[in-house]
Amino acid sequence: MSDTTKTATLTVDGKDYELPIHSPTTGPDVIDIRKLYAQADVFTYDPGFTSTASCDSTITFIDGDKGELLHRGYPIDQLAGKSHYLEVCYLLLYGELPTAEELEDFEQRVTTHTMLHEQMKNFFSGFRRDAHPMAIMVGVVGAMSAFYHDSTDISDPWQREVASIRLIAKMPTIAAWAYKYSIGQPMVYPRNDCNYATNFLRMCFSVPAEDYHPDPILSRAMDRIFTLHADHEQNASTSTVRLASSSGANPFACIAAGIACLWGPAHGGANQACLEMLREIGTPNRIPEYIERAKDKNDPFRLMGFGHRVYKNFDPRAKVMKESADEVLELLGVDNNPTLQVAKELERVALEDPYFSEKKLYPNVDFYSGIILDAMGFPTSMFTPIFALSRTVGWISQWKEMIGDPQNKIGRPRQLYLGETARDYIDIENR
Ligand code: CMC
Repeated sequence: MSDTTKTATLTVDGKDYELPIHSPTTGPDVIDIRKLYAQADVFTYDPGFTSTASCDSTITFIDGDKGELLHRGYPIDQLAGKSHYLEVCYLLLYGELPTAEELEDFEQRVTTHTMLHEQMKNFFSGFRRDAHPMAIMVGVVGAMSAFYHDSTDISDPWQREVASIRLIAKMPTIAAWAYKYSIGQPMVYPRNDCNYATNFLRMCFSVPAEDYHPDPILSRAMDRIFTLHADHEQNASTSTVRLASSSGANPFACIAAGIACLWGPAHGGANQACLEMLREIGTPNRIPEYIERAKDKNDPFRLMGFGHRVYKNFDPRAKVMKESADEVLELLGVDNNPTLQVAKELERVALEDPYFSEKKLYPNVDFYSGIILDAMGFPTSMFTPIFALSRTVGWISQWKEMIGDPQNKIGRPRQLYLGETARDYIDIENR
């Protein structure tokens, strides 16, 4: 953390407290309140952490006003355009772009860990066929702690490294097998001669009778979806992973906690919810009705795929995703599909409506990702598992950073208690 000469003064009941200010390499300064409770006997209050930095980090930076997303300093549009997912994984995990030799070694390590312990296959068949693949992923990833004991000791850097590679490598296999199980098809084993994205597509769409060879444009689009979701600093699921791991829990348990958090429709579940919403709208003439519902304070309906806690100008990931959607839909000859027509018109209408512009609500990454995945042949229930497998590297990088940080303490938020004060127990016959 940076040394500081700047301070902030907080006055509580007429008494001043001087608080250190730390300056980041970029972004807003932070006021250090760690000693405030000990000194002034007050807590700070920030539900939803809208103004609170929970850690220091060197991995990802977002400037929500500028619509900027940097991984280790590199802009996301450059990474999505020039790099590829496994190279971005290396960058997130180790801090620098790899040399050709380092990349080859990393790809080799990931590729040779893609198989799951054969006994884990039986684990899948314990689920109902109609289970949501996210439910299966939470269970199976949590169960990895029971299969890979030799990489659960978080105090051993080597075991941490092995767990990291295992998670990144095996997540596509887990997601693809969850899908195969849900449609009653045999699970397809990973192959070492395919790249990460192609391997995933193969495991989802091959059957024993016919191998699936995705068009390079589809593999590239899949890889880009992985890249665009790889990390996003201290979002809800990443903070969940950090909080879970702050107690010393093993990495598989922590990533399972992240997957559970990601599932919600306000976070990773938005991609599924968005496509379902577009289908429910059905035709462009019904858009005004849904726009009115989104604006109505008494209606819980929100435009899924719109708005973001941090981006208040545009989501740079959505821009790249839109380009990818155009490429994929052109390749597949579905550029006039009804869902896409509704999406385009909804975006146009919402962006012209003062409600959305005044609240700075713009399409986010999930507005277009679902359209691409749908065109590729994925059911909506697979959208969030794909987000989860992409985000695994972000969770792991943040987890590694946290474990290696000497300031790491168990996460323990305080509260503003508004319940009853101490009172005496009343015997049941007197209540
Ligand atoms: N449709 C209609 N109104 C909205 C929407 C929306 N999608 N998003 C926010 N608002 C309104 C909200 O009602 C509130 O209005 P008011 O100030 O009058 O009460 C105002 O905008 C601010 O909203 P908020 O809920 O306080 O903002 P937040 O930062 O807590 O929430 C969000 C961010 C992403 C949860 C929210 O915008 C949302 O629910 N969007 C839809 C779900 C979605 O697409 N999520 C994916 C996010 S990107 C992928 C990821 O990182 O997981």
